[in-house]
Amino acid sequence: MSEHVRVLLTEEEVDDRIQSIGDQINKDYAGKEVHLICVLKGGSFFMCELAKRITVPVSLDFMAVSSYGSATKSSGVIKIVKDLDETLKGKHVIVVEDIVDSGRTLSYLLEMLKERGPASLRLCTLLDKPDRRVVDINVDYTGFQIPDEFVVGYGLDYAQRYRNLPFIGVVEFDD
Ligand code: IMP
Ligand code: MG
Repeated sequence: MSEHVRVLLTEEEVDDRIQSIGDQINKDYAGKEVHLICVLKGGSFFMCELAKRITVPVSLDFMAVSSYGSATKSSGVIKIVKDLDETLKGKHVIVVEDIVDSGRTLSYLLEMLKERGPASLRLCTLLDKPDRRVVDINVDYTGFQIPDEFVVGYGLDYAQRYRNLPFIGVVEFDD
């Protein structure tokens, strides 16, 4: 079975939107410093592009988590595979994610990070699939709301492939 990727959001659309989110963050955090947390691996492309557009002082940290659920349905209970290098105490933290789907992973993660004493904690996601939400979570910055389709590119993978696509696409299978 072969497959192809249909473009959902072009590189230009994605880049323009990231610029707008960067502008908004620059306004919201004027006079402060922001500490961006990337959830590996999916959030990495978005975080780098976003960070390049932020003009207030920025620091970056990375973490990796794995879900205890099945591959297609996350349970929300997560295991930290790689923890942050730095403390969150007193920092203005923004968690940068590729996509919010059921919301289970992030709801668990945000609760955990809140206990580490940040001055503030917000969530920024490139993509949001609101139709799929199971757990109510507050998203502070959203790139695009998209329909319930499996997307790849800009950090998002299908079986570890396609993360490097500079646009967002939908995987379609040819028969
Ligand atoms: P949830 O919000 O806990 O259901 O899990 C979200 C995670 O599932 C994301 O961080 C992605 O890693 C993965 N995911 C959800 N939807 C997609 C998709 O359309 N393409 C690629 N990965 C996805
Ligand atoms: Mg992810």
